[in-house]
Amino acid sequence: MNNRIVFPYNWVGHIPFAFYLIEKTKPKMIVELGTHSGNSFIAFCEACRIYNSDAKLYAIDLWKGDNHAGFYDENIFEDLKKYVDENYSDNVKLIRKDFNRAVFDFEDGSIDCLHIDGLHTYDAVKNDFETWLPKLKSNAVVLFHDTEVYRKDFGVHRYWKELIKTYKLNFNFRHSNGLGIIILKENFENNFISELRNSSWLSSFFEDYGNKLIEFNSLKDSYNKIKLNYETSISFRFRIILRKIKNKVLNK
Ligand SMILES: C[S@@+](CC[C@H](N)C(=O)[O-])C[C@H]1O[C@@H](n2cnc3c(N)ncnc32)[C@H](O)[C@@H]1O
Repeated sequence: MNNRIVFPYNWVGHIPFAFYLIEKTKPKMIVELGTHSGNSFIAFCEACRIYNSDAKLYAIDLWKGDNHAGFYDENIFEDLKKYVDENYSDNVKLIRKDFNRAVFDFEDGSIDCLHIDGLHTYDAVKNDFETWLPKLKSNAVVLFHDTEVYRKDFGVHRYWKELIKTYKLNFNFRHSNGLGIIILKENFENNFISELRNSSWLSSFFEDYGNKLIEFNSLKDSYNKIKLNYETSISFRFRIILRKIKNKVLNK
């Protein structure tokens, strides 16, 4: 499991599934469109390490933010880059480019697994999939985050409904904002989608385990916030001063 889980936690609920996916498919090349603080990307990196895969992993992002994720500071990129440099070798790369420009860095038919998690409007997600489609292997797996977000101009749910008419090997997780999965090649034998569809305990396991991970990390944040508030409060500091005085008086 990831040693590094950081805010925001929208994708965290899919980390257990990410490990299963890598174990089942042993991809040679993984590309992520939209990485932000890195929860999904680090899950793929860790899973590849655990399952001894020699996959190449590319995270593509401008690391500025967007209208849905919000806009953020440079330290988000710097923290992730430091972690990647310290923990992974040359097979893991962060590419700081617009998705539409980065696509020219990849050869046709080269990608085994594409994770689309950039801007979530209908037009943006359609553009991301169609732009990158020629770069995918014929039996590639494509993941779409936020298939279950219906607020504002989020449109992945609408695009997802269109996609599954064409790509019959599909599965959609409803927790953690939704994660849609397709395998491009129809009738591809030995696929994990059938396993997910036929074993409801398995998909429930990923959902329960994923939700627990989100809950745990949110609780950890609340605990740290309360602890910090307490430690910086006047009464806490006053008590420390009193204790020091008492120790001095008692010559401790
Ligand atoms: C929802 S966040 C990614 C969340 C991430 N996968 C996680 O695990 O938390 C979307 C990211 O996509 C990036 N982004 C959106 N549109 C982009 C584009 N056209 N080119 C490059 N980056 C883009 C934003 O900077 C933002 O960091």
